[in-house]
Amino acid sequence: MKYKKIELEDKEIEKAINKELERQNNHIELIASENFVSNEVLKATGSILTNKYGEGYPGKRYYDGCEHVDVIENIAIERLKKLFNVNFANVQPHSGSSANSAAIAALIEKGKKILGMKLEAGGHLTHGYSINFSGYFYESSFYSVDENGWLDYEEIAKIAKEVKPDLIICGASAYSRTIDFKKFKEIADSVGAKLLADVAHIAGLIVAGLHVSPVGYADVITSTTHKTLRGARGGVIMCNDPTIAKKIDKWVFPGYQGGPLFHSIAGKAVAFGEALTKEFNEYQKEIVLNAKVFANSFQKFGVKVISGGTDNHLFTIDVKSSYGINGKIASETLQKINITVNKNTIPNDSESPFVTSGIRLGTPAMTTRGFKEKEFIELTRIINEALKNYNNEKILNSLINDVSNLLKEFNILQ
Ligand SMILES: Cc1ncc(COP(=O)(O)O)c(C=O)c1O
Repeated sequence: MKYKKIELEDKEIEKAINKELERQNNHIELIASENFVSNEVLKATGSILTNKYGEGYPGKRYYDGCEHVDVIENIAIERLKKLFNVNFANVQPHSGSSANSAAIAALIEKGKKILGMKLEAGGHLTHGYSINFSGYFYESSFYSVDENGWLDYEEIAKIAKEVKPDLIICGASAYSRTIDFKKFKEIADSVGAKLLADVAHIAGLIVAGLHVSPVGYADVITSTTHKTLRGARGGVIMCNDPTIAKKIDKWVFPGYQGGPLFHSIAGKAVAFGEALTKEFNEYQKEIVLNAKVFANSFQKFGVKVISGGTDNHLFTIDVKSSYGINGKIASETLQKINITVNKNTIPNDSESPFVTSGIRLGTPAMTTRGFKEKEFIELTRIINEALKNYNNEKILNSLINDVSNLLKEFNILQ
């Protein structure tokens, strides 16, 4: 994938987009939820499809002239069903959050009880957080991870017995271990709750058979399409039950959304086509291998990796105990040398979510750019040096050169 600079009559916007392209090219991107789309996905997403309105679903629209967008939406649906081996898919959610809002509404009545993973433990805002719709319109409770950063299924079962939720949500934004969907299903069944699996982060790994699938366990599965799946930005919802499927369609439109974003649906369809190839599976294997090598390299420097390693595409390091600094200082230090990460809470964090004691590191984006084990080992050396010397401008300045040397062979500018 190589990107061209954009030309627009609107020079203000042209300048900002091209500056962003330069930033993407000159920075090492370790945000676990970001990726670089193929030129094909980019073309479809930037197409004239943005001109079209089409509230409703293929063959049942409230607008005329939908014969071609119907073809596109049907292809996206069929490809997604094949990827995950499910009977039903809705590809219209504008984002992962929209997918979760419609999925939750399809599963439980307003005011009912949700049990989700705590945000600070690696969950997501839409899994019941108080300032999100999911905590406002539903009564929410939470499970967490143990002091080592692992899900404790016995503890979750205990909480479920106490809370008696109507819906359990599993899936995470910052959890580096395999999620046992079978155990979650057993817990949900034991209290008569429905199960929603949000696989936003691990969707690509599931498609490639590198993480167990929630199909057969979860009543409904939601995902984003732009993380490990490497597609256009958006969300999807899947299930196997035709009655729930009808409710999902109803809650996406007219429930929570209006007209579908057909340019985005086309970008998803192209990405799903790519995800059906052998190359995509190889790419996912490389993501996981790189993450293991990356985490292991930190451990060799004596850095504390939460949960002791990773099974997937990301992990969190404890910068407080490893370098004596908080996550905010760590992420700002790395930004100074052109490395982008998120600050992230660690189990029982004493710092607020705006400060944190950790940083989250992910390999999908740099794996797309061609980084292999060798580059991740060198990258660990650079990050370790930077965090050890966070207040030494001279050393940080010399590390900027190391970053640009490391990126030399991985240019994304056409
Ligand atoms: C687990 C999980 N679910 C849902 C979302 C929401 O996706 P979006 O930002 O597209 O609304 C995210 C995004 O980070 C996520 O990590």
